[in-house]
Amino acid sequence: MRILVVGTGGREHALLWMLRRDAPGAELYATQPNAGMATLAHAVPIGPGDVEALTGWAASQRIDLAVVGPEAPLAAGIADRFRHKGVAVFGPTAEAARIEASKAFAKELMAEAGIPTAEHRTFTDLEEALAFIRERGGPLVVKASGLAAGKGAVVCATSDEATAAASTMLRDRTFGEAGKEVVIEEFMEGEELSVFAVTDGEEALVLLPAQDHKRVGEADTGPNTGGMGAYAPVSLATETVVQEARERVLLPTLRALSDRGCPFKGLLYAGLMLTGDGLKVVEFNCRFGDPEAQAILPLLESSLLEMLVEVAEGGSLKGREPSFRTAAAVTTVLASEGYPGDYPKGREIEIPTTVTDNPDVLVFHAGTKRSDGHLLTAGGRVMAVTGIGSTLAEAAGKSRDAAAAIRFEGKHFRKDIGWREMARDERNKA
Ligand code: AMP
Ligand code: GLY
Repeated sequence: MRILVVGTGGREHALLWMLRRDAPGAELYATQPNAGMATLAHAVPIGPGDVEALTGWAASQRIDLAVVGPEAPLAAGIADRFRHKGVAVFGPTAEAARIEASKAFAKELMAEAGIPTAEHRTFTDLEEALAFIRERGGPLVVKASGLAAGKGAVVCATSDEATAAASTMLRDRTFGEAGKEVVIEEFMEGEELSVFAVTDGEEALVLLPAQDHKRVGEADTGPNTGGMGAYAPVSLATETVVQEARERVLLPTLRALSDRGCPFKGLLYAGLMLTGDGLKVVEFNCRFGDPEAQAILPLLESSLLEMLVEVAEGGSLKGREPSFRTAAAVTTVLASEGYPGDYPKGREIEIPTTVTDNPDVLVFHAGTKRSDGHLLTAGGRVMAVTGIGSTLAEAAGKSRDAAAAIRFEGKHFRKDIGWREMARDERNKA
């Protein structure tokens, strides 16, 4: 079997690692792989964004399965192009990927299908947006509708902050085209949960829910990032909550997309807020979350490959049920100095053997590259280290120790991944 993974980050390293586990004899290929991915897959010298070149390459190389990690190529229609050329691909069409690529579209779909989410309005005109902000008052959340690498949502405590955010998006175009339409919505209070479903367009196989840590600083302070860490399982995600997410969010969303003639086949990511009023959708993504995938996938006991192949080949997931190890996983992201702002590249990384030899620690590379035998930083998020343990505290300890032991100049990471869950544990014991 010949498998291509599209993408270059930590999520894609985790996907490759799982595919290698599930198909030890397969030929694996990856687009411009980071140094970790390069140990598992042959390098394809075409970037994830070059959809036409990748389509030609995959068809000529007789790729049996392509798995697309990031949202940008999906929104650009990579799955449509691959299918058109007869390459089986795991990932939604561009039309279905609008659930992530256009927040305005996602909100409209949710309103139509009666899916619980924050009240909102969509604007392209600044004056109208400002009038709405004045009328509603803070706190509000102002979001660029298009793709903005996880940085397009501004949580505003006051209407002055919301005015500033809407103005920079609509007038100054800080997010370029992505911000020419903005969604302004009610601020929701509660804990967030990332719920992933592998879907054939109808059936939703819900994976173990995880919790992300979006802020750069400990105790969830400082600016938003792509994600500084994640853990699973989450005790808040009881069977009732998962059932509700499936019945009230995932299945109605899939039905609504099918009814519009764009069934979603791939990984549907629901970012949920557990509010006092029940669960509500914060956002949808059309792909695995990063770094949640690096925590969830290592706990998956059943085959990832079989689910992906079934969906990619247009089959049905009916009757399948993924199974997970009874263990906890904590993933800590190691970031470059300055991230999520500007950061330097090319700093040498050392990973001690105490980390690489530990069977309970997995190192997933993100922004790394190898040059003249040296391992160097090449991105804002450099690596994600996952610790596995029988309890969350044990897993967190392993992840944190490994994160501390890996060395590069300017490294920073959060030492408190999983803190909400551990605080709950303490409260339950008291
Ligand atoms: P998004 O780009 O929509 O995923 O938003 C990024 C982050 O902003 C989310 O993970 C939340 O932490 C926060 N956020 C987004 N929308 C809301 C909201 N309506 N209420 C509170 N926080 C929000
Ligand atoms: N970790 C959040 C995301 O992947 O969008």
